[in-house]
This record gives sequence, structure tokens and C-alpha cells, in this order.
Amino acid sequence: MSIWQTLRSHASDVRERRILDLFNDSRAEKFSASFGPFLFDYSKTNIDTSTRHLLVQLAEQSGLAEKRNAMFSGEKINDTEGRAVLHTALRRLENDVEVDGENIMGEVRETYDRMVRFADDVRSGKFHGHGGRITDVVNIGIGGSDLGPAMACLALAPYHDGPRCHFVSNVDGAHIHDTLKDLDPETTLVIVASKTFTTIETMTNAETAKAWMAKDIEDPAEQFVALSTSAEKTAAFGISPERVFGFADWVGGRYSMWGPIGLSLMIAIGPKHFRDFLAGAAAMDQHFCEAGFEENLPVLLALVGMWHNQFCDFATRAVLPYDQRLSRLPAYLQQLEMESNGKRVSMDGEVLPYHSGPVVWGEPGTNGQHAFYQLIHQGTRIVPCEFMIAEKGHEPDLAHQHILLAANCLAQSEALMRGRSMDEARKLMEAKGFEGEELERQAAHRVFPGSRPSTTLIYPMLTPEVFGGIVALYEHRVFVEGVILGINSFDQWGVELGKELALALQPVLTGEADGAGKDGSTLRLAQMIRDAQD
Ligand code: F6P
Repeated sequence: MSIWQTLRSHASDVRERRILDLFNDSRAEKFSASFGPFLFDYSKTNIDTSTRHLLVQLAEQSGLAEKRNAMFSGEKINDTEGRAVLHTALRRLENDVEVDGENIMGEVRETYDRMVRFADDVRSGKFHGHGGRITDVVNIGIGGSDLGPAMACLALAPYHDGPRCHFVSNVDGAHIHDTLKDLDPETTLVIVASKTFTTIETMTNAETAKAWMAKDIEDPAEQFVALSTSAEKTAAFGISPERVFGFADWVGGRYSMWGPIGLSLMIAIGPKHFRDFLAGAAAMDQHFCEAGFEENLPVLLALVGMWHNQFCDFATRAVLPYDQRLSRLPAYLQQLEMESNGKRVSMDGEVLPYHSGPVVWGEPGTNGQHAFYQLIHQGTRIVPCEFMIAEKGHEPDLAHQHILLAANCLAQSEALMRGRSMDEARKLMEAKGFEGEELERQAAHRVFPGSRPSTTLIYPMLTPEVFGGIVALYEHRVFVEGVILGINSFDQWGVELGKELALALQPVLTGEADGAGKDGSTLRLAQMIRDAQD
């Protein structure tokens, strides 16, 4: 029997047991792992020692250790694009790594030093706009060129002492309009962040920003910066090479905020805190490379996730940070996880005999509690939940609010596991004076099935190091899952078809093409939009 079959039959054997019944004096300790500032508790799941043993075997049989080493040493593991995968090199600046026999780190370090100088100059006012010191930075990018720095600027708000940062991603003109409307072009720096410098949303917004600035400034490109792999295209846009921060094709878009794509963050929090953020991620890299699988946080996160998704058949996973400053983390993880592991074929092009990665979604607590937790507690589908909480907040005067936040976080995982039986619900309703049939009816609405799995990641405080560690933890988790599924986590062919069709539809919407060959629904909708433009 293959390990997949063994795990499937193990899952069906243990399906009915109650998580709470697994608890004894040592379970919380035995089913958690810690590294540095983190403790990952997965004791509130249906996993026991034999489940974990089988899951670790699954990881071992997938060749995870060799594939991990291949990634870190610069082998071209993204083989549908013929590229190495070396975002980890951006945060381990002192290590040397070779790609195609050449040490890539000289250039990485040089670009990093230029970023530091530029960020310092913007922060000090040495680099200024036509109207003086830069007050606002607008990062124009989308996907990996937006979600990472946008999330990070919010996450590290307590360290933000540079100019205000804004993020424009959507091609919807409302986004750039609403962002620029209160800004002064003379003191605004525009960062055009695009690995390819061809992404239609980003290039359209960049042209709009340039035109906005050109109304007040003779040479708007002087207040533009480019972050891209294409020196040719940034030059064609008119941005001078000293304000272009390049990177290589071995940095995937959704893994790119550790390098030039993180420039807005570096300007916001300063190079020192940015370096701490890199150091936190580098420490997680080292842990991932050195710890045994049973103590390895990224491996455990991946295995617990796969247990739920592949073997228990739970199709989605909720990410629930009880940390308002991580409010963009679920959106960031949607790209990281779903663009990486939402694949239908294996490395060799065969259709997968199992599911791809799960649907990932979420919102910070306690907001989500007043929105979708109803379904998580009483809906008919089970949603494994991933809670996150800092031991302490950044606001000493508001420590009482942190206690309230933390109580809610712990209460939710407890409620999911414990549930409330019909007997308990009956007693509750009896105490309220209900009886007979009405008691039965009312009690049924108050039953919680319980035994719903969750994990909790706890850390001392959301500092730059801790935040860097959290993001690296998730990156490696995605890698582990991709290796076990046998897929390429580093390409994204699934986004191409929609882009091609959008290009073809533009002339239909403007009336320059008749849309021959299009279906009736698309044509009718296009016609309505076309008519509204007149
Ligand atoms: O459309 C998907 C994608 O290619 C992402 O992978 C990427 O992060 C995003 O578009 C933006 O790409 P770029 O940085 O080249 O503008």
C-alpha cells in the first residue's frame, strides 16, 4: 500500500474520534513545536503520534530534503520556466550562491547597498521632489509587486517613520484616482514595481501617474523609481538607471519583497528595521534547512495542512490572525499559496491523482467573528482554522484590549474543539424556561458539533524579525506542500488565458472589433458596456 493510501485509510479510521478526547497531560506539548520566537500548536487537531509518523514518512518519501537543498543551492527547480528559485538569497546577503557557475551575490549586495542609500536619501530629504522633501510614496504594482510590501507596511506600522506609503494595484481608475487626489505631485515619489515591466495594470497606472505629475512638473520621470528585471523597458519608460533597482529572473513575483520590490517598505521603516526583517526570514530559512521534520515549523504547517486538505477532504483553510496589522496577510497568502500550488498537473505533465492546494481565505479576528464564524462553528462543511496571536501588543496603554483580543482568539479555538452537545443546549434552554417541543427546537439551534480542527501560531510581538519569520515560514510551507504534491510551485500559467482574452476584448468594448467568434453572453455584456461609453 502506498503511503497516500495508508494515510487515506488512517484518516477514515480516525474520522469519528473527538479531538478533545485525545487530550492528556502532555498532548499540548507533544503536538506543538517551537523555534526562536515562535510556538506552533497543532494539538487541537485530530492528529496523533501515528498520524504524524505517517505524514513525516510522506514528506521523506517525496525527497523533500534533496529538493530543499536543490532550491537553496540555485538549481533550476522551476523547470517549466527554466529558472532557479533563490528568493532566499536576498535575505542571506553574506552567503555566496552560484547560478550557471556564476556567483550571483555580488550584484545582489550591490543593489541592496544602492537601495539602502536611496532609502536613506529619501528619508533624510537629500533626495527630494520639485517641491521639497518627499512626503508620500506611491507604489504602483500588482500581485507579488504589491501584496508583499502593502502587507508589510501595515504589519510594521509601529516602525514606520518615513514618508507615507500608498499602494495602487487595480487597473480600475478609481484606485489611482482616489490615491492621488489628495497628494501633492511636487512631493510625491512614484515607485513602479513590476518584475516584467509589461503588466498591463501596472503600466497603465504608471502612465496615469506620470500624466498627473506632468501637470505640475516638467520632467516627472525624475520623481519616478523602477523596480524590475528589465533595464530596457524601464529606460524606455524614461526612468534614469540610477533610480532603477534590478533583480534577476530567479526571484519569483510572489517571493520578491525581500529585494527591490521591498523598497517602499525600506523607505517606510528604514534600512535598519528592513535588515531585521530579512534576518527574521533568514533565521527561518536556517531552521527549515536544519531541523528534523518533526520539529520543523514549515514542514509541520505543510503536513497539518495536507492532512486536512488531502486526507480529511477539507477543501478550504481559514487564516485568522488576531493581529489587526496582519489584516492583509490572508490576501498575501492567497497569492502565495494559490498561485503556487493551484496546479492540475505534476512536474512531468500528468494530471494529479489528488487535489491541488486548498482554497485559502480569512480575515483578522475579532472582525471575522462578527461575519463568517457562524459557518465555521455550525456550517455543514469543516474549515480548518489557523489562528495567530502575539503575546503582547505594541500599545502598552491598551494592554487591556490585547487581553480581550487574546481571550477571543483562545476562546474560538476552544469553542471549535469543544462544541456544545444537545444535552448541554437543552439545559441552557431549560434554564431560560423553555419546555416540550419548543425546548427541543430551540436547543437544536444552539448545538455546536465541535471537534473542528485549528492550529495556533504564537509569537512575542509583531516585530520586523518576527514578521520576516512568519512570511518565510509560509513560503517554505508552500514549498513543502508543492514538493509532496509533485508540482511546480513556481510558475503560474493559470493566469495567462484571462490576460490574453482581456487583450482581445478591449477592441470589442471600444467598438473597434465586432467580437466574431465570441459567445452570446460575453457579446451581450460587452455591448452594454460599449453603449454606456457613448
Ligand atoms: O499575473 C500574475 C503575475 O505574473 C504574478 O505572478 C506577479 O506577481 C504579478 O503578475 C505581477 O507581475 P509583474 O511584477 O511582472 O508586474
